[in-house]
Amino acid sequence: MDTTWQSRLQAIPRLHMAEYPTPLEPLPRLGQELGRQVWVKRDDLLGPGLGGNKTRKLEYLLAEAQERKARKVVTFGGLQSNHARLTAAAANRLGLETHLFYFDPRPQRLTGNLLINHLLGAKMHFIPLGGGGSGMTLETTIRLVRWVALLMVGKHYFIPVGGHHWLGCLGYVQAALEIDAQAREKGIEQATLITAAGSGGTLAGLMAGLALVNSPLKLLGIDVGKLWKGFPASIALLAGEICSHLGRPRSFTPEEVPLIENTYVGERYGLPSPDGLAAMHLLAHTEGLLLDPVYTAKAFAGLLDLVRRDRIKKDTPLIFLHTGGVPALFAFQKGELLHD
Ligand SMILES: Cc1ncc(COP(=O)(O)O)c(C=O)c1O
Repeated sequence: MDTTWQSRLQAIPRLHMAEYPTPLEPLPRLGQELGRQVWVKRDDLLGPGLGGNKTRKLEYLLAEAQERKARKVVTFGGLQSNHARLTAAAANRLGLETHLFYFDPRPQRLTGNLLINHLLGAKMHFIPLGGGGSGMTLETTIRLVRWVALLMVGKHYFIPVGGHHWLGCLGYVQAALEIDAQAREKGIEQATLITAAGSGGTLAGLMAGLALVNSPLKLLGIDVGKLWKGFPASIALLAGEICSHLGRPRSFTPEEVPLIENTYVGERYGLPSPDGLAAMHLLAHTEGLLLDPVYTAKAFAGLLDLVRRDRIKKDTPLIFLHTGGVPALFAFQKGELLHD
């Protein structure tokens, strides 16, 4: 096996902000209800400031920020962005000043992730341009925000929305290797791995990683936002960039991106969907495991629907990648999280 890409990967500077591997746990009571094996990969347990999937990306991105001797870090996202909260927490560990940009009006009360940002001392900039679905591509949006940030903050290290950058997504190449090894060890190497897709970097990193090790795992991303024009093309481009930077150039077409768009988003990004709420309640009641209404609940609703409609072969085990996000729960009122 050609392992030069693995030595390249190991040589890229990375901070240590969490313990790996994260657990891969069975969900036996839910599995019994669904009539198949269901497992959860606990990336919700990762890292500082209540953690989540962005820790894996920030370990690479902030290592570069440190190398460049940055004093300020800038990123942006939706009002309940977990990525923004985790960036602020991780940057504090390095003594960096964090600036977070939101393209919504400043809410009257800071709740959920916004409240934690406040506690972490991050500087929040609210520019009311109507966040949540610009109708632009990810790449154009990132370029525009980068300019705004330069004008408003001056010199800084810029992190695209959700850490959507090949360097950060190496964290999910590492995760792909980790999950592939754990699945083999548990005898579920033919499983389908399901994750939420917001900015698509987690999915891109996993696509690249699983392809690099020729893993038999199948991958499926569930779009939770309807946020970006040409979303599959952006994910394909990113997965290709990751492989090139590891010295194993390979291109992916948008059609090769295993993404279900639009189906499980509900009305829009950030608003709980009825199926997502039902999924949240089911998992909480059967396994005592919490999801968030913005990302993981919608992805889990997708998993449940695909199983119930026999869209995933009967004997295929399922691995749900829990990407975190639970702090957003505290931005909602009880009435908003009820379901029939
Ligand atoms: C809890 C949670 N799950 C999933 C995602 C999606 O990850 P990605 O942006 O890499 O698609 C995000 C961030 O967008 C998130 O905060």
